[in-house]
Amino acid sequence: MDEVPSTQEVAHLVAEQGAGHGTAIAAREQTAGRGTRGRTWHSPTGGLWMSVICRPADPAAAECLSIRVGLAAAKAIELVCPGIPPLAIKWPNDLMLDGRKLGGILCEARWTGGHLAWIVAGIGLNIRNPIPESVAGSAIALGSVAPHADVEELAEAVAVRVADAVRNGSTLSPEELARFAERDFLRGKRLAEPAGSVAEGITPTGALRIRQEDGTVAETVGGVALSDG
Ligand code: BTN
Repeated sequence: MDEVPSTQEVAHLVAEQGAGHGTAIAAREQTAGRGTRGRTWHSPTGGLWMSVICRPADPAAAECLSIRVGLAAAKAIELVCPGIPPLAIKWPNDLMLDGRKLGGILCEARWTGGHLAWIVAGIGLNIRNPIPESVAGSAIALGSVAPHADVEELAEAVAVRVADAVRNGSTLSPEELARFAERDFLRGKRLAEPAGSVAEGITPTGALRIRQEDGTVAETVGGVALSDG
């Protein structure tokens, strides 16, 4: 598609009409791209803006879906663009390249009568799109390390891997946890909240493990901020 308000909206619409697991909707440009926590996602031409319809067999898998999408997307990007620095994942849904945000994941579930109907996994990747001045220091485009990266090829590879990965079981397997650990951007980093706590990996449900200042370990499912110190 050329231009849509948000591929998320289109994906929900076609999911409602019965589109199957793995159906992907991509657009060259979004005029009302959405990010996590109600934020706007700047999506001009040049990036990969795509939503994949996911119908996991087990509704409990919804909890760790974002982690699976991140793992699948990171692997697909590295395969399509060999030689780029390894990608990291900043829990819960940022793809990181050289310490800067390369892309983000937004998972939106729809329920009917208390049952999970489907989840739309939105993936936004900066490729050759201009990066807004306001985030220039913290964001990066794939084109800066892979000048020949092809948006269509990436879309195909990411969609196939995501659809495959989200078929997995209700919780993250030891193998998925090991793969996440290799890409874990937050591990060992000090967090702003709770003050003095340190990120210690994730649980099989995809929650973040935090070692608090008193030595106890807590789990969180909300976003976290890194400490300046
Ligand atoms: C984040 O805030 O980091 C998540 C960004 C997700 C953006 C993608 S682009 C494709 C899909 N359509 C949207 O409107 N948002 C997601």
